[in-house]
Amino acid sequence: MQLFSLADRVALVTGASRGLGLAMAKGMAAAGAHVVLNARNPEALDACVSEIAAAGGSAEAIAFDVTDEPAAVAAIKQIVADRGRLDILVNNAGMVHRVPTLESDTAGWQKMVDTNLTSLYVLAREAARPMVENGWGRIINIGSVMSLVARPGIISYVATKHAVHGMTKALAVELGGTGVTINAIGPGYFATELNQALVDDPVFTQLVEERTPVGRWGKPDELVGAAVFLASDAAAYVNGHLLMVDGGMTVNM
Ligand SMILES: NC(=O)c1ccc[n+]([C@@H]2O[C@H](COP(=O)([O-])OP(=O)(O)OC[C@H]3O[C@@H](n4cnc5c(N)ncnc54)[C@H](OP(=O)(O)O)[C@@H]3O)[C@@H](O)[C@H]2O)c1
Repeated sequence: MQLFSLADRVALVTGASRGLGLAMAKGMAAAGAHVVLNARNPEALDACVSEIAAAGGSAEAIAFDVTDEPAAVAAIKQIVADRGRLDILVNNAGMVHRVPTLESDTAGWQKMVDTNLTSLYVLAREAARPMVENGWGRIINIGSVMSLVARPGIISYVATKHAVHGMTKALAVELGGTGVTINAIGPGYFATELNQALVDDPVFTQLVEERTPVGRWGKPDELVGAAVFLASDAAAYVNGHLLMVDGGMTVNM
């Protein structure tokens, strides 16, 4: 057995048309998995699938909005019907809503809860059924440094990412023993479209450089090792863990 190989595994990565999701999808394909890439924009997904295929990987696209529960349920069923299995779910799709709390409203809050939390619960619940049946599975939820700490102006992001941490623990204790493990990754500050406003802001970039012991923004490829590890047989006894990939930001006083 090759400890970190994902050969013969089928993986669904949500939010995989750019940024961290695309990096993890490419990394899992390179490790041998057949990767199903999800996002809302089908054209963007097709381009990513072609890129993976050109690099010798196996991939397909399945476009749906993760907040559309019937579509999410149908997608899991379709993957299992087409491929006979679903081994790995990376619950990565997410968004950020930057607004001071006193100017925020409940509709904005609810959209964040639907996208960053409820969709992960629905997909984890549906993906876990065939995984439990097969006696093997990996669910990887993408949290954040905001799963542990907070910054002003992003209350719904901080709350939903803390809840992702809690949901990961709840699933881990409930499904431990079935062969399915549930873990989370807590990325620090990575230069992606989600953070474009912050990347473009020299004051914020200086803060990232000063607060992060490694002294810079993360590169999306630097998340791949953690994702492949947690998805592989190497992580068989890792369950309910939040693996921080943050250049040391959350241990820095
Ligand atoms: N970048 C960071 O520094 C950082 C740090 C900590 C945590 N994270 C977390 O990592 C995850 C990915 O972040 P990112 O920086 O890669 O973001 P990104 O560059 O904005 O990419 C987000 C991806 O999710 C998809 N998506 C968004 N809403 C969706 C929905 N409702 N249904 C399906 N797909 C959806 C987007 O494609 P479509 O628009 O086509 O749907 C895109 O593929 C998020 O959960 C984020 O909170 C990021």
